[in-house]
Amino acid sequence: MNIQTALKKGRLKLRYNNVSSAQLDCEILLSKAINKDKKFLILNLNKEIEKSDFNYFDFLINERSKRKPVAYITQKKDFWKYEFFVNENVLIPRPDTEVLIEQILEITKNKSKLKILDIGVGSGCVLLSILKEKKNFRGIGIDLSIKTLKICRINSHKLGVDNRLKLYKSNIDNFNTGKYDLIVSNPPYIKKNDLKCLEKDIKFEPAQALDGGVDGLSELNKVIDKSAKLIKTKGCLILEIGFDQKNKVKRILQKKGFYIKRVVKDSSNHDRCIVSIKL
Ligand SMILES: C[S@@+](CC[C@H](N)C(=O)[O-])C[C@H]1O[C@@H](n2cnc3c(N)ncnc32)[C@H](O)[C@@H]1O
Repeated sequence: MNIQTALKKGRLKLRYNNVSSAQLDCEILLSKAINKDKKFLILNLNKEIEKSDFNYFDFLINERSKRKPVAYITQKKDFWKYEFFVNENVLIPRPDTEVLIEQILEITKNKSKLKILDIGVGSGCVLLSILKEKKNFRGIGIDLSIKTLKICRINSHKLGVDNRLKLYKSNIDNFNTGKYDLIVSNPPYIKKNDLKCLEKDIKFEPAQALDGGVDGLSELNKVIDKSAKLIKTKGCLILEIGFDQKNKVKRILQKKGFYIKRVVKDSSNHDRCIVSIKL
């Protein structure tokens, strides 16, 4: 079978299973199966593929048909300028979260040495991207899950920032170590009831990375409360929020002694990030 026919077969199977990005996903999965890049596929549509490679491609397509996200099948995801190793123990890094990186780089543009805490570090996409950009910054990441922290450590090796990173397995409630110039967090902020209505793909991701309790604010509340104690005066807290949480989160921040510097929108024009300063 040639590449074009394999792609068509895969595409039909994915469409039948209501995968909306069928063409793109097929290209990524066939690239993985034959260990070539997407450009090779497009330039070699008539090239025959080995039977064993097609069988592997068919296996990958079946995984995707069950709605397993492509990033979990390929075990990688691009974020900012880097590629992160991912599996089902971490949230798949989202393009919207890159807003946090832009804000951190803007706010620290004249700083050379800083200590940053990432609450709910996950794959490490936020903290490690910053450590990679800023060679004299040090990072501390905490997360509930040891399996998640293992993935973060793999990524810190990959990016070569291992020696500037400390990781702690801890609930933010119980974490009382150090004082920080900057704290960043993308906590779970989806309302418990809304989780049931999410796309099938998202159900593969860890619930503890998504579930923000009944009102979606339970983890944000904890993060702000603890950050007020762990942050230095004039330190900066940068939070990712749900598109409809701006006003509530602003009020919680103000009550805890933070001044709202700005609210930033994502590429879909939704409020996505609040930058605040501890007074
Ligand atoms: C939305 S994910 C964000 C992961 C990563 N920072 C990112 O932006 O892709 C939230 C992370 O916070 C962790 N988490 C949830 N509740 C927590 C808590 N109370 N204390 C510490 N970590 C928590 C989860 O395990 C998950 O890895």
